Amino acid sequence: MTKLSRRLSALPSYPMGEIPSIKRRLVQQGVDVIDVGAGDADFPPPEAAIDALARAAADPAMSRYPFQLGLPAFREAAAAYMQRRFGVACDPFAELHPLLGSKEGIAHLAMAVLDRGDVAIVPDPGYPVYHGGTVLAQGEPHLYPITPRSDFLVELDAVPADVLKRTRLVYLNYPNNPTAAIAPRDYLERTVAFCRRHDIVIAYDNPYCEITFDGYVAPSIFEIPGARDVAVEFHSLSKSFCMTGWRLGWAVGRSELVTALSRVKSYVDTGAFLAVQAAGAAVLHDAAAHLAPYVAQFKERRDAMLPALRAQGFEPETPRATMYIWVPLPEGLPSAAFQRRALEEAGVVVMPGSGFGAGGEGFFRVALTVATPRLVEGAARLGKVLAAV
Ligand SMILES: Cc1ncc(COP(=O)(O)O)c(C=O)c1O
Repeated sequence: MTKLSRRLSALPSYPMGEIPSIKRRLVQQGVDVIDVGAGDADFPPPEAAIDALARAAADPAMSRYPFQLGLPAFREAAAAYMQRRFGVACDPFAELHPLLGSKEGIAHLAMAVLDRGDVAIVPDPGYPVYHGGTVLAQGEPHLYPITPRSDFLVELDAVPADVLKRTRLVYLNYPNNPTAAIAPRDYLERTVAFCRRHDIVIAYDNPYCEITFDGYVAPSIFEIPGARDVAVEFHSLSKSFCMTGWRLGWAVGRSELVTALSRVKSYVDTGAFLAVQAAGAAVLHDAAAHLAPYVAQFKERRDAMLPALRAQGFEPETPRATMYIWVPLPEGLPSAAFQRRALEEAGVVVMPGSGFGAGGEGFFRVALTVATPRLVEGAARLGKVLAAV
């Protein structure tokens, strides 16, 4: 048998891994599957993106290697968006870097920052790439349980001193996947101050900053004084503009950190398709106008799904951001078992809390990714599963 690397065997299994093939089998058997698993909404991308992509794809210059520079117009559009939306000024060439979706940037940053044995603080539950990226970089993940009791916040002063001494990186993600939690400004202020004191890099993962409701406006970490010294922020076109498959995002931060990330990437990829970057630039120029209808529809879905779930005996909190509802399960009911029964007996794909780490046990996640009537039907089917367990 081929000997594979130790870091490969240290990787937890990826939670979305088996779902597409199980779903395919059920669909082939004629099951009417309602998929509220992945954070991948059914809305079409903005027409401006499609038009710009079509135009750019016809230009032979766009078929050349992007390299790490990418399309200058994309860098400029992303920097202009940072300024307009958050009041954050950044140099589009020194302090901002295009990504093939934010996922790879998040994973690759660990390789730029961690040496073997350095610790990264990983929220548990959390987006699996924080854990996996740390392991692939031969760092040591320190899983920090985020719980409703502490509003799902990572409190760094609760990390044991011997772990803290070796900590080089912390992943923070607010608005949060999977819990939909948001971070108050005073929390961000004390966390930035702590990381400056302890020389810890913050990977601030911010793909849901535009999907917010009820008057809440999510900040950039760079609105917090001092954050520039320690943070790299990740943005994505995937969630805000319903462009998950286009694979486009960016990292922004102090030039030294962004350049370090770029150096890793220069050995791994050669940049996102320039025509996709042209489409990204077109969308970012007019971001607010494209976002408004998506956010309104996510809100409508949220406001229909919450009462539908509650009518079935579930007790979710009302999320003020993201496309997710984080739903507690009755005591003692394992989330993986509930997910399996939901899929096999009710044809509903949900994400088990345990798929985001052991700290997610006791919950499942619903994504508002299908039309309202399908969500409501999904809630009714989930209610039957709950009643049967
Ligand atoms: C918290 C979080 N960060 C990053 C990503 C990655 O998004 P993308 O690589 O599509 O930009 C996701 C996608 O699910 C996510 O939930």
